[in-house]
Amino acid sequence: MKKFYITTPIYYVNDEPHIGHAYCTVLADVFARYHRLLGNPTYFLTGTDEHGQKLQDTALNKGIEPQRYCDDIVKGFKETWRKLNIKNDDFIRTTEKRHIDVVTLILKKLYESKNEAGQSQIYDAEYEGWYCKYEERYWTEKDLVEGKCPECNRPVQRLSEKNYFFRMSFYQDWLVDYIKNHPQFIQPDFRRNEVLGFLKQPLGDLCISRPKKRLSWGIPLPFDEDYVCYVWFDALINYISAIGYNHETGEFEKDWWPAVHLIGKDILTTHAVYWPCMLKAIGFDDDKMPKTIFATGWWLQEGAKMSKSVGNVIKPLDLVDKYGVDPFRFYLIREMTLGQDATFSEESFIKRYNSELANDLGNLLSRTVKMISSYCDGKIPDCDGKIPEFSEQEKAEQTLDELPYLQVKQLKEELNAFRLNNAVDKIMSFVRSINRFIEHNKPWVLAKQNDKLELNRVLYVAAESLFISAVCLHPIIPSKSEEIISQLGHKIDSKLFSGGLKDWGNLQPGTKIKPGESLFPRLQKVKPETENSEKGEYISFDDFKKADIRVAEVISADKVTGADKLLQLQIKIGKEQRQIVAGIAKNYSPEDLIGKKIIVVVNLQPVKIRGIESNGMLLAATSGKKLVLLTTDMDIESGAGVS
Ligand code: MSP
Repeated sequence: MKKFYITTPIYYVNDEPHIGHAYCTVLADVFARYHRLLGNPTYFLTGTDEHGQKLQDTALNKGIEPQRYCDDIVKGFKETWRKLNIKNDDFIRTTEKRHIDVVTLILKKLYESKNEAGQSQIYDAEYEGWYCKYEERYWTEKDLVEGKCPECNRPVQRLSEKNYFFRMSFYQDWLVDYIKNHPQFIQPDFRRNEVLGFLKQPLGDLCISRPKKRLSWGIPLPFDEDYVCYVWFDALINYISAIGYNHETGEFEKDWWPAVHLIGKDILTTHAVYWPCMLKAIGFDDDKMPKTIFATGWWLQEGAKMSKSVGNVIKPLDLVDKYGVDPFRFYLIREMTLGQDATFSEESFIKRYNSELANDLGNLLSRTVKMISSYCDGKIPDCDGKIPEFSEQEKAEQTLDELPYLQVKQLKEELNAFRLNNAVDKIMSFVRSINRFIEHNKPWVLAKQNDKLELNRVLYVAAESLFISAVCLHPIIPSKSEEIISQLGHKIDSKLFSGGLKDWGNLQPGTKIKPGESLFPRLQKVKPETENSEKGEYISFDDFKKADIRVAEVISADKVTGADKLLQLQIKIGKEQRQIVAGIAKNYSPEDLIGKKIIVVVNLQPVKIRGIESNGMLLAATSGKKLVLLTTDMDIESGAGVS
C-alpha cells in the first residue's frame, strides 16, 4: 500500500472561488478518492493563503479588519467545497497559530544557520529596484514592459530599502541535478523542461521580507520586528505546517510527507524552484523532496485566462445549481486534458453531459434495471458466480472482451502515472462496450426464446460490468455512482472503497434491484447562433433529403501513386461494392481503415480523380489540418441509411 499525500495550492482570499480554483480542488479530490478506492492510505490538504498586500488593500478598501475579512471569505470557500462534495482531510489557513509557529521557527532556524559553504542562509542587504505593490515583488529595469509591471501591467515604484534575503542561489546547481535525476519531480515533462530552461540563467537570492511600514499584514520576522515575511515564503510552508512539521526533530506529527502538489502553471516557479531550495536549506534530504509537482493548465474563456481582473469568472456554484454537482465535476475532469488548457463553454458542457452521462451511462443503467425487472423477477440473475466466458464473436465485435477484469488494474497504472484522462477514457469506453454487449446479445430476443441460461449470463455481465464502472467512476461522480449501485440493489460498503473491489463477482445473485429515477435526463442544447441562421441562408428539408447518405465498410485501402494526400478505397454498402478516392492520406494510413464503418454520400455524380474513378464521397470533420472520419456511435450494418 502506497501512502498518498496530495495538496492543492492555498487560495488567495481576496476573491471568491471561481471555476479555476474549483478545478484544482475537484482534481485533487478525485485523485485522493481514487487512491482511497485503491486501498492507499490517503491525506488530502487544501486551504487559504491569507497574508499579503492584496489582502490588506482589499480589506482596507472595504473598511474591515483583515482577519475578519479573511474569516468571511474563508466561509465561502469552505461552503463551496462542501457543495462540490470535496472530501479534504484538513483545511489550513495561513493565519492559524499552528502555521505561524512553524513559519516563525523555520525563519529563526534559517537566520541562525549557515549553508555548506559557511554562508548565512538569510542575510540583509540594501536593495534598490522597481517594486510592484500589487504583485508584491521587485523587478529589474529590464523586466519591465513599457515601464510597467510585466505581470499585471500596473505602475511600479522605485524603492530602495533594507531587506532580508534567502540565499537561494547557493542551491541552484543542486536543484538542476535533482530535477534532471528525478523525472517524476516536475510533471508534465514539458513543464520540467521549462523549469530547467529557467535555471539556465543564474538564480538570484529571494527577498523574503517586507517592511512593516508598507505592509503589516504578514508573519513578523522573528529577528527584526520592523519586517514581515514575504507572502510566498510563508505560504509554501503550509504543506508541512499542516501535518505538524517539527523543526527540531525534522519529524511530522502526521506522517504523510512527501506530498504530491497539484498547482496551476502560473505558480510553477515558486513551487519547483523556491520550494525545493527552501526545503533543502531547512535540512530536508533529497529523498524528502515533494514526490511530484504537477502543473495543470488554465480554464480559458474566449482565449483569456479566467480571472477576477479580466472580469470573466464563472462561479462554480452557479453551474452546480443549474446542472447538479456530479455533472459539473464530470465536466471539469473530462473536458480538460490534465496539464493542458481548456475552454469553458456551456455548449460543450451540455454536449459532454448528453453524450456520455445521458446516452452512455444513464441509458445503460435504465435498460439494465428495466430488463432485470422484466425478465429476472427484479433480482440480480445467477451466473453460478463464475467469470463468464465471452464468445469469439463477442470479442470480434468488440463487445466486452476481457475488459471487466482489467478495469481496476488499468486504473492503477494510469493513475500512478497521472494519466487521469486515459483512466477515465478507458472507463467510459468500457461503459460504451457494455451497451454494445447488450445490443449484440439482445436479451429481449433471448427472453422471447426462453433461453434462461443465456439471458442470465448476459444480464449478469451487464449488471456486474455496470457496477464495476460505477465504482471506478465514484471518485468523479460520487453521488450518482452511489445511486447506480443502489438501483442495482447494493450498498456502498466502506471495504469496497478501501481497496475491496473485486475484479469480478461483486453483485450478489438473488439481490432485489431497486429501479429508480432516470439518472441523467437529457439536457436541451443551447441553440448556437450559426452564420447561416443569422443570414437566413437555409436549405429546405427536401433539398437535404436529396442526399443519399449511408454507412459503408472499408474493405481495402491503398495509396494513390504520385498523390500523397489521396487514398483509393474499396467499400461495401450493403451488398454492393464500389470504389471511392478520398483526400485523407495525411490523417489515416491504409491499415487504420480496413474494417472501419464510415459515412458516405452515395448518390454524388461519379468523378475521376487522378484518373481513378471515385463513386461517392466520404464524410469527415475538419479543423485546420486536423481531419477525423465520421463513423457510427454503435455498430450497425453497412448500407444503413443516415438521416
Ligand atoms: N496563493 C497562491 C498559491 C500559494 S500555494 C502555496 C495562489 N493563489 S490563487 O488563488 O491565485 O490561485 C490558486 C490556483 O488557482 C493556482 O494554481 C492557479 O493556477 C489556479 N487558477 C486560477 N485561475 C485559473 C484558471 N482560470 N484556470 C485554472 N486554474 C487557475 O496563486
